[in-house]
Amino acid sequence: MVKVNVIFHSIHGHIYKMAEAIADGAREVKGAEVEIYQVPETLPYEVLEKMGAIETKNLFAHIPVVTRSMYEDVFAGADALIFGTPTRYGNMTAQMRTVFDGLGGLWSRDALVGKVGSVFTSSGTQHGGQESTILTTHVTLLHLGMIIVGLPYSEKRQRRMDEITGGSPYGASTIAGADENRQPSENELEMARYQGRYVTQIAKKLAGREKEL
Ligand SMILES: Cc1cc2nc3c(=O)[nH]c(=O)nc-3n(C[C@H](O)[C@H](O)[C@H](O)COP(=O)(O)O)c2cc1C
Repeated sequence: MVKVNVIFHSIHGHIYKMAEAIADGAREVKGAEVEIYQVPETLPYEVLEKMGAIETKNLFAHIPVVTRSMYEDVFAGADALIFGTPTRYGNMTAQMRTVFDGLGGLWSRDALVGKVGSVFTSSGTQHGGQESTILTTHVTLLHLGMIIVGLPYSEKRQRRMDEITGGSPYGASTIAGADENRQPSENELEMARYQGRYVTQIAKKLAGREKEL
């Protein structure tokens, strides 16, 4: 058995759709137990309303919100953690950061050391910071002692030149468009499925072997 948790933040639904695709890929691996969680939203309702995000937030209102009392189970209890965050100026969102900053207790007792970690993202514009968002999030995963897995070039869809697409060796990604109206393409969703499957396969090989590390 291998336990994989996908943890995401999303406002307009792009990262949520990618998270579902990541989870679908992970579930293709025999013995995988996969759950999806969203991080708590910190923006007030009025701000979300101004962002036109009430409807899109409702799309994934059924996904459980990870709260402090669940950290032990959701983070320490997994073999692999796959994080999805939209870009904010080339970094993860503050909402996602708040969760990472709450993991000090787990960090201090090495609870995430040796677990597999991976990141996927989205941005408004094509070159708006997808790679930097994933890489700067990797820094946090490294501090937590995680083994980082990206999206290898064996996933050929990231080489496509006949259409605009997200996806890089760092991880799956989608381009939301400056007005957030573009939806994740099939190419991008396939890359997300690949990443979910690949991370899970690696986590399965390592699961239960922490003492050997
Ligand atoms: C405060 C703020 C900063 C942002 N910074 C960037 C940026 O630097 N580059 C970019 O391409 N998009 C940027 N965006 C757009 C978001 O990344 C985009 O809305 C998001 O990827 C959509 O994902 P979601 O539908 O899951 O919320 C920013 C959005 C906000 C609200």
